Amino acid sequence: MTIQWFPGHMTRARRQIQDKLKLIDIVIELLDARVPISSRNPMIDEILRDKPRLIVLNKSDLADSRTTEQWIAAFAEQGHACIAVDSSTGTRVNEIPVRARAILHAMIERQIAKGIKPRAVRGLIVGIPNVGKSTLINRLAGRNIAATGDRPGVTKGQQWIKVGTEMELLDTPGILWPKFEDQIVGYRLAMTGAIREQVLNVEDIAFFAVKVLVKRYWPTIAERFGVETPPKDIEDADEIVRVMEDIGRKRGCLISGGRVDLEKTSGIILRELRAGKLGRISLEGPDDL
Ligand code: G4P
Repeated sequence: MTIQWFPGHMTRARRQIQDKLKLIDIVIELLDARVPISSRNPMIDEILRDKPRLIVLNKSDLADSRTTEQWIAAFAEQGHACIAVDSSTGTRVNEIPVRARAILHAMIERQIAKGIKPRAVRGLIVGIPNVGKSTLINRLAGRNIAATGDRPGVTKGQQWIKVGTEMELLDTPGILWPKFEDQIVGYRLAMTGAIREQVLNVEDIAFFAVKVLVKRYWPTIAERFGVETPPKDIEDADEIVRVMEDIGRKRGCLISGGRVDLEKTSGIILRELRAGKLGRISLEGPDDL
């Protein structure tokens, strides 16, 4: 799903989330574990204010676990509870209600002290398109719930979904926009497949992907594509293109005159990256902050 985020949409999306905040105790901020900065809404702190929050790094099956651990530690340093899950298989998803209750411990204790039987904690999932909100809602609900046409501006009656006995979720997630005015963010989201290739040039996306891969995972790409010579300077664009050409030659992507077909090569690199053929890859670490 590609949403065109015009200013009016952003304002409406923001208002919708702020209306929902009145109904809930805790926000589950969903980020892509491979790109936790780029998949984050630039105004999230302003929108959520002091609402209790659990950061969930989704798609952790595709990210490298060492970097994911570093992210969890970095968010903890900022005072945010954070866990990593894989909504596609459900791995660690059942920790979400447990962690949510732990964050709301003081509120629950106050209710008990007043003699009120604590009710289920109420949550709202928020995140940018394609981060896995619907998949996570369905996992937590244990059945197919989430409407796929959940676009900003389209409202429907709110429903509560029971997650076990101790948590309830709003059935429609809050949809947020990424920081798309930042070019690097756009390319990183495109590398994960979250932004369609029609919007950005495939060779440019692959160029940025190779640059990140060379910097963070040179042995992995050297082995996968059979390329031998690392670039001398990763800031030198010619050197990155040279690595792309080496990959293209190894994969037989040649056009007349023995030149490398960079468009075809780029398609191969991105397909294999997104399909996890290069292994578990994190495209940004806390050192990029
Ligand atoms: P959204 O509501 O936030 O827009 O995202 P949605 O749940 O539609 O998920 C977007 C894509 O991400 C889906 O793939 C979904 O299967 C995949 N996904 C969600 N969570 C995870 C996860 O933890 N790990 C992995 N590997 N993938 C995840 P799709 O290609 O759009 O659809 P399909 O292949 O599932 O049919």
